[in-house]
Amino acid sequence: MLADLALAGLVVMTLLIAITFIAHLWVPVVYVPTPHAVVKEMVELAYLKPGDRVYDLGAGDARLLIAAKRKEPGIEAIGCELIPTVWALGKMNILQSRQKVTLRFQNILHCDLQDADCVFLYLIPSLMEKLKEKFDQELRPGTRVVAYVFKIPGKQPEHEVKVPWMGSERAVRVYKW
Ligand SMILES: C[S@@+](CC[C@H](N)C(=O)[O-])C[C@H]1O[C@@H](n2cnc3c(N)ncnc32)[C@H](O)[C@@H]1O
Repeated sequence: MLADLALAGLVVMTLLIAITFIAHLWVPVVYVPTPHAVVKEMVELAYLKPGDRVYDLGAGDARLLIAAKRKEPGIEAIGCELIPTVWALGKMNILQSRQKVTLRFQNILHCDLQDADCVFLYLIPSLMEKLKEKFDQELRPGTRVVAYVFKIPGKQPEHEVKVPWMGSERAVRVYKW
């Protein structure tokens, strides 16, 4: 009985790893969650207020949106995630947190941002380039973009904060469109 359970667990784990691996053939960014201390800093820097629509593009386990919603319950929190297993993890986290956060199974490049007040980002440089064009077309003037680690090419941040990372430092940058 115990052996059967262990075998079933192993099969499920192998399946989940296989799905994640295959999905990464289409999604070049690996799921690496933002450290909780940095999440807190990013949410502070976002200066959220009631009524804001807040997006996390590549929301991972939805930790940024859950933290944002806890800090300012009056916001609308929306995430996009394209790796099925990571999306499922995010859904479970949201359920457990009891916060009203929407997590779409959607490519960030297909996510309409015209109503955004704030956007969180932790992605890779090639995607930042594509997003710069998308932001120029869709974001309303005054929308805040809070980005961890990678810069948005050709855009000057309003504000930059260094956060400790494994004995060195990384940056959180706040851009205003
Ligand atoms: C570095 S992780 C950051 C996760 C989360 N935002 C955080 O800060 O903890 C980037 C996430 O973006 C997702 N991602 C990458 N490209 C994507 C795309 N085109 N559409 C949707 N999600 C994407 C990845 O699956 C991954 O979960």
